Amino acid sequence: MKLLAAAALLVLAGATIVRATLDFDVDLASHLEHFSTQRYPNEKYNDGRLQAQTYIKERFINYGLKVFEHKFNTTVALDPLGIENKYETVEGVNIIGLAEAVSNKPGAVLLVGADYDTNGLDEPMFTNGAGVAAMLEVARLFMHNTRWTGLYWQNFTTIFVAFDLNTREHQVSPGVPGARHFITDYLWSYLNKSDTNFGGAFILDSIMNVNYNEGSQTVDDSFQKMFPDTYQRVINGGKKGDFLSAITLTGTKSDMLQSQFTGSYHKDRRLSMYRLESMKINKEAPLGRLIKELTKPSSIHFWTFTANNTETSLPAILLTDTQGLRQMPPPPEICFKACPAKEWLTQDRIDFMDTTVRALTRTLMSRQGIQLPQSDAGVTSLPSLVMTLMIVLIVRIYQ
Ligand SMILES: *[C@@H]1O[C@H](CO)[C@@H](O)[C@H](O)[C@H]1NC(C)=O
Ligand SMILES: *[C@@H]1O[C@H](CO)[C@@H](O)[C@H](O)[C@H]1NC(C)=O
Ligand SMILES: *[C@@H]1O[C@H](CO)[C@@H](O)[C@H](O)[C@H]1NC(C)=O
Repeated sequence: MKLLAAAALLVLAGATIVRATLDFDVDLASHLEHFSTQRYPNEKYNDGRLQAQTYIKERFINYGLKVFEHKFNTTVALDPLGIENKYETVEGVNIIGLAEAVSNKPGAVLLVGADYDTNGLDEPMFTNGAGVAAMLEVARLFMHNTRWTGLYWQNFTTIFVAFDLNTREHQVSPGVPGARHFITDYLWSYLNKSDTNFGGAFILDSIMNVNYNEGSQTVDDSFQKMFPDTYQRVINGGKKGDFLSAITLTGTKSDMLQSQFTGSYHKDRRLSMYRLESMKINKEAPLGRLIKELTKPSSIHFWTFTANNTETSLPAILLTDTQGLRQMPPPPEICFKACPAKEWLTQDRIDFMDTTVRALTRTLMSRQGIQLPQSDAGVTSLPSLVMTLMIVLIVRIYQ
C-alpha cells in the first residue's frame, strides 16, 4: 500500500515537473481596480494615495520581494489647479521591492519604476495607474518564474519601485519629485556611488492610451527634428496614436538594453495593429514645447543625474504612449466622477498593455538570469520545490 502511494506520488511529481513552464499570463485588471481614483496629496484625494501605498506594499510582500519604504519631504500646491496660492510640505513614500541576487558585477542591477500618485486632474488610471499595474505584474511574473517554477535561476539584482509625488506632473508644485529623492538618497548609495554596476531603469509612464483614430497623435516641427523616422511613420499612418514609445537619451549606455527590449517586444507582438517606436532624445537639441511632455516622467532624473557636481547620466528607458501628445478617449458614458477600471478596459487597451508587460518580463528574464535546461527524463535531474516536497512526503510514508 505504502509502496503504491509512493509510486503514485512520484508519477505526480514527474507530471507536475514536465508540465511546468514559464508563466507569461498577464492580469492587469485586478490591479487597475485599485488605481481608479485620484491620488493627490491634498485633503480631498489623499486617502486614495494612502490606499494605493498600502496595496503596492502588500503586493510586493506577497510576491516575496524585500520591501523598503523610502520617505522624503517635498512641497506641493494644495490646489491641483494652482489657482489658490497654498503650498504645503508633505511627506512622500517611495515603495521599493528588491529581488536580490548578485549586484557587484558591471551592469548587473536593473530597475523597473512607475509613479503612483496623480496630479489631481488627469484620468488616474491612464496617468499613471496603468504604469503601476504593469510594474506590479512584471514583478509578480518575474518573481513567480524565478522563485517558484524551478525552471529559472536569477543571477542579478532587480529593483522594483513605485515613486510617490511626481511634482513635475503637477500644475505648479515647486518641490523636488519623489524619483529624484530616490536616486540621490537611496539608489546611488545602493550602487556604492558608482554607475558601473547599474544596467538601467525602465520607467513605465502612461502606457494605456492606444488610439487608432486618425489625427489622434500630435506631432510638430520639433518632434520632426528630434525623431525624423518616427515622425514620417506617424504622418504616413494618418497621425494615429497606435504605438508605444521606448525613449532614451543619446550618450547614455542604454543601446543594448533597448535592443533587448525591442527583441522581446517583437517576439510577442504577433499580428497586431500597434507597434513599438524606439526614439532617442538628443541632448544637444533644444527641447520643443511638445517634447517637454516627454521629460515630465521620472526617467528624466536618471538621465540628468549629477554626482559631486559631475554629470553622471544613468541609463533609463521611458516606456510611454506619449501622454499629452496623444488624444485621450472620451470617458465611458456611465462614468460621472470616478470610472471603474472595467469601463476603460477595452480589448484594444488590454492587448496593448499586456504586450508591454510580457516584453518587459522577457527582457528582465533574459538579462537577469538563465533558464535552466528542461529535461523530460527529468524527475531525478530537476531541482524543484515540488520534487523536494514529494521526497519529504515519501520519507514520511515510509516512517
Ligand atoms: C518631513 O517633515 C516632518 C515635519 O517637519 C518631519 O517630522 C519628518 O521627519 C520629515 N520627514 C523626512 C523623511 O525628512
Ligand atoms: C556595494 O558594496 C557591498 C559591500 O562591499 C557589496 O556587497 C555590494 O554588492 C555592492 N553593490 C554594488 C551595486 O556594487
Ligand atoms: C563624492 O563625494 C562623496 C562624499 O562627499 C565621496 O565619498 C565620494 O567618494 C565622491 N565620489 C566621487 C566619484 O568623487
